[in-house]
Amino acid sequence: MAPPSKDEASKTPVTQDSVTMVLRGMRDPETGRDPVSLGWVAGVSLADGAVTVALEVPPARAPALEPLCREAEARVAALPGVNACRVVLTAQRPAPAAAGGRAAGGRDTGKGTGIAPPGVRHIIAVASGKGGVGKSTTAANLALALADRGLSVGLFDADIYGPSMPRMLGLAGVRPQVVNDRLQPLRAHGLSVMSIGFLIDEDEPVVWRGPMVMGALEQLLRDVDWGVLDVMVVDMPPGTGDTQLTMSQRVTLAGAVIVSTPQDIALLDARKGLAMFRRVNVPILGLVENMSYHVCPKCGHREEVFAHGGARRTAEDMGCPFLGDIPLDMRIRVQADAGRPIVAAEPEGPHAAAYRAIAAGVAEALDAASATAPAAPSIRFT
Ligand SMILES: Nc1ncnc2c1ncn2[C@@H]1O[C@H](COP(=O)(O)OP(=O)(O)O)[C@@H](O)[C@H]1O
Ligand SMILES: [Mg+2]
Repeated sequence: MAPPSKDEASKTPVTQDSVTMVLRGMRDPETGRDPVSLGWVAGVSLADGAVTVALEVPPARAPALEPLCREAEARVAALPGVNACRVVLTAQRPAPAAAGGRAAGGRDTGKGTGIAPPGVRHIIAVASGKGGVGKSTTAANLALALADRGLSVGLFDADIYGPSMPRMLGLAGVRPQVVNDRLQPLRAHGLSVMSIGFLIDEDEPVVWRGPMVMGALEQLLRDVDWGVLDVMVVDMPPGTGDTQLTMSQRVTLAGAVIVSTPQDIALLDARKGLAMFRRVNVPILGLVENMSYHVCPKCGHREEVFAHGGARRTAEDMGCPFLGDIPLDMRIRVQADAGRPIVAAEPEGPHAAAYRAIAAGVAEALDAASATAPAAPSIRFT
């Protein structure tokens, strides 16, 4: 695997001040004032020459401000030390009651206009109620296992707060190229990959507020040149927050795969996630039980660390497919930390087989979904 080499343009690092100066030189066509004095600049992130600017603007003005954004991008990109610049427009919302809190109420509940990339056939979300259950690990290995079926697969890391894919796929520090104004996904182990983590520094605190998250996500979905994909696997942040709402309302999701560990509490959280996706009419493709049991590497004895099988029962209770279980195995973590998820690192091993079985279940569910949808002729996944 040879990731695109990092653009070495950054000799003098760019500063917040120089970006602000550029923005001060821009003019809102309606008021004739600059975005800084209008109070629109919600955030500027600098990471190794990749600049992201979030502008919070009145919702009705957003479409008319696209040219201003493009011009700001061009001007910032021309600064010394800048490799790429994205200007993200987000809608101004009424300030939440608690200052500094995430935006809470006042959301649309209807489906918005679709922003799904045109060449992408199916978008599936990998979700869970809480963090640390292995969502990202599952997303990466599921994507690889789907690719093993001969499908062209993209992996979109939508975890704005804690992106995992740069490290998990061995792409930490690599920056995407911009070609014809569009971000090019990176390639790893045969997958096309995009993550907010490619645009920000790993240890930079991500203080995106709710509306900014949505803006950044939408921009990534819209401005990334995904090309033609059979499936895009989306690694979601934990919980049922803004990202979940954005993804389920603005993108036509083929379905969600819910990951859970066997502990009851995690299952309760998984139920919450399930209910959330049901509420917004996203089909549940099935449940995966991760860290399900432990096999002793020395003697092969199988230990049920937690009461095993809860996800299967939950799936039965909720009337959705149970896709399979993945054991707790150090190799799964070690390989992911080393940038080679287990399906790529040990394709002949038992864990790769387990992920391929889950991928088969997902492909079957996607086939079933295409069969019922009155859509264009569909390819078969199984
Ligand atoms: N089946 C597994 N066996 C061992 N370690 C795992 C397994 N699944 C995930 N992990 C490890 O657990 C941690 C959390 O997993 P991650 O996929 O980042 O969770 P999430 O995305 O839900 O927060 C990571 O260190 C990962 O390597
Ligand atoms: Mg994660």
